[in-house]
Parts: sequence; C-alpha cells; structure tokens
Amino acid sequence: MRIVIVIPTFNEAANVAKMVETIASIRPETKNHDLQVLYVDGNSPDGTANLVREKQKQHSWLHLLVETKKEGLGMAYAKGMKHAMEELKADYLMEFDGDFQHPPEKIPEMITQIDKGYDYILGSRYIPGGSIPAEWGIDRKLLSVVGNLVARTCLILPHVHDVTGGFKLSRVKGFMDEFDFSKLLSKSFAYKIHLLFYMIQKGAKVKEVPFAFQARTAGESKIIKNEMQETLRVIFLLQWHNPKIRRFLKFAVVGGTGLTLQTLFFEITSVFTHILTPSVATVIGGEIAIISNFTLNNLWTFKDYQVTGAKIIGKFFQFNLTSLLALVIQFVILRIGEFFARGSAVIIQFFYFGAIFIVLIVNYYIYNKFIWKTKTNAPKS
Ligand code: GDD
Ligand code: MN
Repeated sequence: MRIVIVIPTFNEAANVAKMVETIASIRPETKNHDLQVLYVDGNSPDGTANLVREKQKQHSWLHLLVETKKEGLGMAYAKGMKHAMEELKADYLMEFDGDFQHPPEKIPEMITQIDKGYDYILGSRYIPGGSIPAEWGIDRKLLSVVGNLVARTCLILPHVHDVTGGFKLSRVKGFMDEFDFSKLLSKSFAYKIHLLFYMIQKGAKVKEVPFAFQARTAGESKIIKNEMQETLRVIFLLQWHNPKIRRFLKFAVVGGTGLTLQTLFFEITSVFTHILTPSVATVIGGEIAIISNFTLNNLWTFKDYQVTGAKIIGKFFQFNLTSLLALVIQFVILRIGEFFARGSAVIIQFFYFGAIFIVLIVNYYIYNKFIWKTKTNAPKS
C-alpha cells in the first residue's frame, strides 16, 4: 500500500530537518508498505518550504506543495489530501503535525493496523496508554478533556474516545476518494470533526492506537481562540442534516406541546374556573396531551412512516398503552426514590427528573420500534 503522510506547516523551520530525518529512519520499519511524505506549506515567511526542498535532494519519497497563501489547517489538508490521491496515488492518507507533538515513532504501529483490515486508524490520547502533556496547566487540560467529551456526546460517538485529535490514518478507496472537499465544513481545525463523522458514517472499521501528545519544544501553536465555537458550529451543521437527530428534536417539540396543552387545560378548568376538580382535570388534560402527541407525531415526527385509515385506531390504542407504561415506570422509580430519599427534597427531585428522562427514552424507543416501526419498515417517502 502507498501511504502518504500529509504534514501541513506554517513556520516550522525549526522542525523540518529533524522531522524528515526521523521519518527517514523509521521508513525501513514499514517496508511492506511504500511510505511517502507530503509537506503542505502555507507559504511560511520563515523559509520552511526551502528547507523541505533542500531535503528533497536526498529523499525521492519527499514531496512538497506550497500554498499561495495560508488559508487554515483544514484547507491545507484538503489541498494536500487531494494532491496525495490524484498525483501521488495514495492508498492511505495520514494526518500528521510537523512539530513533534505527534510522536513519529508511533507511525509504524499505526501502519501495522492497515494489515489487520482497519479503514480508519486514530491516534488516541484518551485511552489507556495515551495522554496529554503533563506540563499543560489545569485550564488547558480541562479544555482538552471537556471539549473532547462534549464533541463525543454531541456527535453520539461513544465508541470513539478521542474525536479532536489530529493524528490519523484513513483508507482512500471507498472512503476519502468519495469525499467532496468542496463541501468541507471548516477551513480551520474543525475540519477534522467533519472528516471523522464522514468516515464513521461511511462505515469505516475503526481502530484507536494510544499515543502521548507531546508538548511543543520548537516553534509556536497556531490554534486560534474561537476554535471551540468553530467546532460546535461544525457539529451542529453535521447533526442538523442527520435525520435521526431531526426526528428526535421533533419528538421533543411534540412532547413539549403536549405538556403545555395539559397544563393549560389544568389551569383553566380547575385553577381559574373550578369547572373540574384538579384530579379529573389532570386526567382529561393528560388524554388531550396524548391525542395531540399522537396526532402531531403521526403527521410530523414520523411523517415518512405515517399511519392512515382504520389502522389509526389500533395504533392510537397502543400509543395510550405506552403512555400508561410511562406512568407505571415513573411510579416505580419514584417509589425507589422515596426509599432512598428519606425525606430529602433534592434526592426526590433527582429521581423525578431521572424518571422523566428514562420515560422519554423508553417512549421514543417504543414509537420507533413498535408504533411507527422505523426500524423494520421502509419509509413511505
Ligand atoms: N499549511 C498550514 N496552514 N499549516 C498549518 C496551519 C495553516 O493554516 N495551521 C497550522 N498548521 C500546521 C502547523 O505548522 C503544525 O505543523 C500543524 O499544522 C498543527 O498546528 P499547531 O498549531 O501545532 O496545532 P496544535 O498543536 O495547537 O493542535 C494540534 O493538536 C490538536 C489537539 O489538541 C493539532 O494536531 C490539532 O489537529 C489537534 O486537534
Ligand atoms: Mn502543535
């Protein structure tokens, strides 16, 4: 396999010569593969590109692409990856920093995973054996850990432990060669969230390899301050186009509407006008919410699996049973809560909201699995 290590650089003059020689020294370790290196320089004023040219005289596997101007890390990778696939005929692309924060001695270990059939090999700081620099301050560490956790949660990727790292190896055929770089969602660091999401959605077989992210010893970091917002923007754009997330958001809106209707009915009929007793008002309001939820979910949330005609009656009955089940679950959880709380209001509230959360998930599951059958049937439109 031909592996092209893409190394973007901006003002890395202090690191180029040592990096090229380090990679030259590990090349023999990967001799069943053809290891090539492509520097993508953002037209660094410190002469990084000339140092690469100097080294090219000794190494035929060393390539260089110079951008007319620096356009951000994501753009540098987009240009470099396209060049590596089209001109250098890469079978695998490696993303790698030019500042020794990614340890070059880990490269052979990443590459051996190719032979085991993996499509996407991730350098991971957050699995046993991986780490972030001990010399980082607590704020920098927290930002890294929490940022990664938030990104992981929002992307719903429980099986990937490091989603914000920049050390990876991706298969070209069937994966990177089908990626449309003109639609890359970020020109800067957040590009990696998009590529990661794409690879996983494409069904890549993923392997995480632990590595110790090093502190920088030469040159400066170019990571910009608003990277956090940029990352969240990319996550939002990715998930907004994710039909599963959209469905869940609609389900939540419908549930909120139902609760509002029930509350309004309760307030109007029992609190303000005394037409009904509170207990009766709750139950009737509850059934109004159920009717509203069923109708709106059927017409909107699950429009592509809509139930029509006489079938509506049976489904509506099932839907009522699900609501009853929800009440039973809440009752049981709160009985357990009463046992543990021993009068503590805080603990009871914890159980109350916990029960609502569980019921939400159970309901959503039942709607998908049994009522609108999104898991077994094909969509109507
Ligand atoms: N051509 C080009 N253009 N290269 C760039 C640009 C750019 O706009 N910005 C940065 N680079 C180069 C740097 O010269 C370096 O070789 C590499 O890209 C990484 O940039 P750093 O500035 O060192 O990034 P970092 O150390 O803050 O971030 C690294 O760690 C993060 C995890 O904490 C990167 O690997 C990130 O991808 C990773 O998320
Ligand atoms: Mn760095």
